[in-house]
Amino acid sequence: METASIPRDKDRLLRELTEFLAIPSISTLPAHAADCRRAAQWLKDELGRLGCSAQLLEGDGHPVVWAEGPAVPGAPTLLIYGHYDVQPVDPIHEWNSPPFEPTIRDGRIYARGAADDKGQVFCLIKAFEAVRGPDGKPPVNFRFLFEGEEESGGHVLTDLLAREPERAKADAVLICDMSYFDVGWPAVYTALRGMCYAEIHVRTLQRDLHSGTYGGVAPNAMETLVRLLARLKSRSGRINIPKLYKAVEKPSQKDLKTWRQLPFDQERYLKEELTARAVTGIEDASIFERTWALPTFEIHGIKGGFVGEGAKTVIPAAAMAKVSLRLVPGQSFEKVAKWLTRAAKRLAPKHADVEVRILHGGEPVQVDVSAGPFQVLDAAFQEVVGRGTVAIRAGGSIPIVTALARSGSPIMLTGIGLPDDGLHSPNEKLDLQQLWDGIRVFGRFYQLLGTPA
Ligand code: BES
Ligand code: MN
Ligand code: MN
Repeated sequence: METASIPRDKDRLLRELTEFLAIPSISTLPAHAADCRRAAQWLKDELGRLGCSAQLLEGDGHPVVWAEGPAVPGAPTLLIYGHYDVQPVDPIHEWNSPPFEPTIRDGRIYARGAADDKGQVFCLIKAFEAVRGPDGKPPVNFRFLFEGEEESGGHVLTDLLAREPERAKADAVLICDMSYFDVGWPAVYTALRGMCYAEIHVRTLQRDLHSGTYGGVAPNAMETLVRLLARLKSRSGRINIPKLYKAVEKPSQKDLKTWRQLPFDQERYLKEELTARAVTGIEDASIFERTWALPTFEIHGIKGGFVGEGAKTVIPAAAMAKVSLRLVPGQSFEKVAKWLTRAAKRLAPKHADVEVRILHGGEPVQVDVSAGPFQVLDAAFQEVVGRGTVAIRAGGSIPIVTALARSGSPIMLTGIGLPDDGLHSPNEKLDLQQLWDGIRVFGRFYQLLGTPA
């Protein structure tokens, strides 16, 4: 299939993409374990159909999909990584169409996973399909590695790569799980933030109490928790965890200069991406520094007490908050986990039992984007969409990248998403033009990679 024939194939591609996106592969919810497996199986079948030897690799969780394309002696090896799992869909009533009934409106496909990451995985596979020769031979040696636990901090792939690190060895690792910097501005990423995800549990009583009889004296667990949380970060955005900022590497002057020159419309960013009236955070740092080069502390949810219909006068005995820190180059997950635990215990009153449970984490990553394959990707974008890649950083995290990078292979972080795709939010979408362009871009990338210089 010539890349020029892609438009004629759009109906088939959309049917296939719809089928893949309709599988509710939410990795963090145990009730969806069978759906995760179905999504893995879908990928395995698809890659098998395209002439790859594909298998599911099992571990203590959702399966990993591993596939190898037909051997192309003498050509480089490209490893493609992606994830088939998706985030939960709540708040469900804010979706304009059901998250697992992919729906096309205004040239965009709306579904959970449309951009993160099933739509992008689909793009890479369809580019592979498009550039195989009449005999089914691809231009390079392909390896595919798709996991189902990226969003939930699972261990199946981590364990696999610890046992068999040679699987990550390749002339380039291509990860398409990010977005353009802006419409018309394809990007490669020089850093990812790391992550430390935790639950903070507070108990102040053995059982809930009547708030009239005991109100005024009984220590309220919810109150204790929110006071603790409020003390973990100041109003000005500084995180109150000793030592946290010590190891933070300042971005280089060159980086800061590049970021200053990026096109950025703060008004539009506020209104359309943040949907807020103001930004918060450390005031003397730019938005790029705040989202790419500084650690964060966010509260994701709080549980405890009475939140049912109506009113109940109760003093909660226990409460829990889910929180996370994003880590930047210089910081390490293990240390931050220890410091968070220590800080939470220190900030709580003596009469409260505080327990910090670390759920999962990942290290921050830095990538040198000067290796040869980056120029090839730049050329492919230039040729197909008329602009090469800008080197930027990501605020988000992809924990497995640390293990993939250990092999020494260049890690190419890029994507076909747009900043307003709504990852993890209601009404996640992927612009179809980005998908069609992306299939041509990566098809061209594969071909150029397979062309001796
Ligand atoms: N694709 C994202 C990571 C990402 C987001 C990269 C935005 C660049 C820009 C990935 O699927 C993701 O959401 N990762 C999680 C990992 C976490 C659960 C450890 C994240 O960043 O929250
Ligand atoms: Mn992702
Ligand atoms: Mn994600």
